[in-house]
Amino acid sequence: MPDVHTTLELEIRYGEFRPIQLEEVFAKNFGAQIHPRRILIRGDPGIGKSTLCRKLAYDWAVGATYMQQRDFRVVFLIEVRQLQGSIKDAIFEQLLPSDLPEQSKKDLWLYVQQNQRRVAIILDGIDELDSKIETDIMGLLHCRILKYAPVLVTSRPDPHGRKSPNAYDRFIVNKGYTLENAISFVHKYFKPLEQETDYIQLVEGIQMSPYLRDLATNPLNTFSYALFGKTTKLCQRQGVNCMIS
Ligand SMILES: Nc1ncnc2c1ncn2[C@@H]1O[C@H](COP(=O)(O)OP(=O)(O)OP(=O)(O)O)[C@@H](O)[C@H]1O
Ligand SMILES: [Mg+2]
Repeated sequence: MPDVHTTLELEIRYGEFRPIQLEEVFAKNFGAQIHPRRILIRGDPGIGKSTLCRKLAYDWAVGATYMQQRDFRVVFLIEVRQLQGSIKDAIFEQLLPSDLPEQSKKDLWLYVQQNQRRVAIILDGIDELDSKIETDIMGLLHCRILKYAPVLVTSRPDPHGRKSPNAYDRFIVNKGYTLENAISFVHKYFKPLEQETDYIQLVEGIQMSPYLRDLATNPLNTFSYALFGKTTKLCQRQGVNCMIS
């Protein structure tokens, strides 16, 4: 978790983007008075949205400097796929012990309401929301509840991802790996084999082929590519004929 590389681009005007760092996701816009309250991160399947959410939660838990500067007292990471009702229920069901006394739940919720600016809520995968579920998630996005809490939402690029475009005051696109990130991943993954020539062949594959280069911007594809390469090399070395269908 400490090393998570990804490419993020912030929309500064409609259709116009600039690169930003992971550490800036919750930060104020340059010259702005207030922090963004409703943030959308959109990205292709497997591009690393959930990993990014986990990285943000991890950085808060270990007290990373940028999280300390933002002064969050608590960060809730909710998987929208598992949402069965209200956001409040999801926080208790997904994140807290099931035998938490009722009074503690009440106290915690009161704390959340009274300290909204310091309570970050991350909703991972809003495109996976079950439309049959009755939930207050849209109320949260439209600031009808927890108006001042920073809420970060991730979505695949489907019509639901921006179905409330006015709800978001920040829009970020997750573009996955740079070429360097992909190569460094293959390196890390391949290292235990300690066969430099095999590793070089794989890296050259990414560098030479525009198709593979494009594919490797997606961490899931890079992983599959490295796994496939490693398995094939291992099989070759052991004299086994490998066939992957
Ligand atoms: N920055 C990264 N570094 C290393 N591995 C990554 C990174 N981002 C994603 N991965 C790996 O790629 C796979 C897919 O990532 P992840 O689940 O975060 O994608 P996603 O965008 O949330 O996908 P989905 O749209 O299906 O929800 C995971 O196995 C994850 O470990
Ligand atoms: Mg995901």
